[in-house]
Amino acid sequence: MTNGKPRVLATRHFPPDVEARLAANFDVQLNPEDRLYDGAALAKASAGFDAIMCAAGDALNAGTIAALPASIRMIATFSVGYEHVDVAAATKRNIVVSNTPDVLTDATADITLLCLLGAARRAHEGAAMLRTHNWVGWTPTQLMGTHVTGKRLGILGMGRIGQATADRARAFRMQIHYSNRSRLAPDLEKGAVFHANPDDMLPHCDFLSINAPMTPATAKWVNAERIAKLPKGAIVVNTARGGVVDDEALIAALKSGHLASAGLDVFDGEPRIHQGYYGLENAFLLPHMGSATVETRNAMGFKALDNLEAFLLRGQSPPDLVKVS
Ligand code: DGY
Repeated sequence: MTNGKPRVLATRHFPPDVEARLAANFDVQLNPEDRLYDGAALAKASAGFDAIMCAAGDALNAGTIAALPASIRMIATFSVGYEHVDVAAATKRNIVVSNTPDVLTDATADITLLCLLGAARRAHEGAAMLRTHNWVGWTPTQLMGTHVTGKRLGILGMGRIGQATADRARAFRMQIHYSNRSRLAPDLEKGAVFHANPDDMLPHCDFLSINAPMTPATAKWVNAERIAKLPKGAIVVNTARGGVVDDEALIAALKSGHLASAGLDVFDGEPRIHQGYYGLENAFLLPHMGSATVETRNAMGFKALDNLEAFLLRGQSPPDLVKVS
């Protein structure tokens, strides 16, 4: 604590309005060049700070948390996903962890539909054809894709983002199937078909959307065996976490034609994604843009700040406390 203000280390360059409020309420060290800290550098840089405001991709694993100075009392992540923070290791050290749920639901569901439509309607091929001056003009058989209206959409993970995705897909008169740890109440389910066992849902998916968090249970869940259960010509969409997909298996199915296409916003090991994706014409790829709107990124930052302020300024539990699951 200096000048009566708790000290916060910002690991990334955050939106200007977020950094302005951070600087007004805390003694903050910003990262204007947005240098990515590795675990050792992050632990070293944290000396003398009360809290870390971090983001997806920061290495707050057990090793980094063990090396953090005793002064660190809180880790506030600017993200809803928190697989980059070892919450159990933090809790053991009495370090409180918070995240930013709710505020990125709509933006991420929008990107899910963009990926779904982009994959179904061959948007990558069309855009590339035009920009490389290879468009010869409209032809009756050019870039014929997959019809979306009325098709079956299976959603793995029917939390906030899964439900918002379903709401959007209903506007395309898609029939919603879903699998989730627990069945939703009828007013939230809105007629969607629940599959207690997610494997049972796969044969019913013309489209499969991954909206589940990355956990040991979902790691590489979309594997060769499960892809084989999808109907031929199905389309896989992932806007959750890349680690939920076995890249080798997905790429093989996109090459063999078992899957018509994929729409992906997230990748295992991003930004160093599996090389096999680059040459695939039937993959519509985005660089983890799900929450990238000005409104959403500000809302995420303000949420991270609400959490930091509750804990560090008012001695309260952060509203979005992450507990060990
Ligand atoms: C999150 O908040 O988990 C997102 O993936 C970042 O956009």
